[in-house]
Amino acid sequence: MRVAIYPGSFDPFTNGHCDILKRAAGLFDHIIVGVLVNPSKSCLFSPEERVEMISEAAKDIVNVRVIHFNGLLVDFCHQTKACAIIRGLRAVSDYEFEMQMFSVNHQLAKDIETIFLMSSPRYSFLSSSIVKEVARYKGDISKMVTPLIEEKLKEKFYSS
Ligand code: PNS
Repeated sequence: MRVAIYPGSFDPFTNGHCDILKRAAGLFDHIIVGVLVNPSKSCLFSPEERVEMISEAAKDIVNVRVIHFNGLLVDFCHQTKACAIIRGLRAVSDYEFEMQMFSVNHQLAKDIETIFLMSSPRYSFLSSSIVKEVARYKGDISKMVTPLIEEKLKEKFYSS
């Protein structure tokens, strides 16, 4: 069985992430969405909230599981018997960071391959930061995230 990890902060998971996930799920037997728990990065949503929101967004993709992890990504790959890491690329600006991450991961674990999927053109502008920015100022995010995630963002920003 070929397992791949789709890792990220996913704060929050966007329709662009979902598009990459669906396409990756067609290439592997099983995909594990790995939500990074990073104490040094302040996230809007807790790891548990992110796992819940992604699980709901991916509920129709049968070969996907969502879990959070901490520590090194390559260690998480070995623990879960994954042979590959999936990353989405939106634009040339993503390349430098992704190349650096690939190089580190490749040096740490030669048995783990990184597979890059180009984002669909309609999502090439989309990022978690953009979604939060638009949501904070009450813009329309209905085409950027699922209805549940839209609701959760509204709760974070508008309820007091
Ligand atoms: O969505 P992001 O924030 O761009 O995802 C980055 C992520 C989570 C894939 C990356 O930060 C990561 O793998 N962190 C785990 C720690 C690690 O393995 N670091 C070495 C590779 S840079």
